[in-house]
Amino acid sequence: MSKPVIILGGGGHAGVLVETLRLTGSKIVGITDPSFQKGTLLYDDIPVLGSDESIKEYDPSKLLLVNGLGPSPKENSREVLSKQFTTLGYEFLSVIHPSAYVSPNAIIEAGAQIMAGAVIQNGCSIGFCSVVNTGSIVDHDSNVGDYSHIAPGAVICGGVKVGRGVYVGTGSVVIENLSLGNNSLLAAGVTLRKNLKIGELFYGT
Ligand SMILES: CC(C)(COP(=O)(O)OP(=O)(O)OC[C@H]1O[C@@H](n2cnc3c(N)ncnc32)[C@H](O)[C@@H]1OP(=O)(O)O)[C@@H](O)C(=O)NCCC(=O)NCCS
Repeated sequence: MSKPVIILGGGGHAGVLVETLRLTGSKIVGITDPSFQKGTLLYDDIPVLGSDESIKEYDPSKLLLVNGLGPSPKENSREVLSKQFTTLGYEFLSVIHPSAYVSPNAIIEAGAQIMAGAVIQNGCSIGFCSVVNTGSIVDHDSNVGDYSHIAPGAVICGGVKVGRGVYVGTGSVVIENLSLGNNSLLAAGVTLRKNLKIGELFYGT
């Protein structure tokens, strides 16, 4: 049985995580979100604990955190938030939806979130606090770096190296054996046939 969890952020991405955590039997202590009054109940019965600062009232050895901020293409607040609490000694739970297929020969790092219907094949690794979102595919021997996002329905073919802090837009396809440099961005619905440099934004063709 895993330790109880606190979710950071009470928006749409957090709501999806709440359903997954309920399915996997996690005990949710509460949610931090400054836009709600302390004590407000979200998602039926989960109390808002206050701002993110309220986490510091809890012993880091007694619970795990779940980063509920939705990944955003052009800013890194998920990464900033994760680092803030990692530095303070808190650990992040990896969340895997029961309908995802994760090869027994794949490595899923702490804090990674594998959403409903995602497929992660053999020889893959998914980095710290990354999101492999609904219905996306990471095919064999691909690596996804820390704090990256594979958006819903995207397909990463075999042997691809996705760097750190990369955003692969929804419905995009990355053909095999390419590299996407750290902090690069692939727009939604694009087929990528070339490597992306560090920080490169690619909108297609
Ligand atoms: C790449 C992206 C971040 C650009 O957003 P933006 O900076 O606000 O860009 P704009 O919408 O202002 O568009 C800028 C230009 O790029 C083009 N463009 C934007 N997205 C594009 C795409 N996916 N494919 C092709 N062209 C695109 C626009 O048509 C526009 O062209 P113009 O200057 O000739 O009019 C955004 O389009 C995108 O793909 N986001 C990812 C969405 C996603 O995956 N969501 C998943 C949520 S879980």
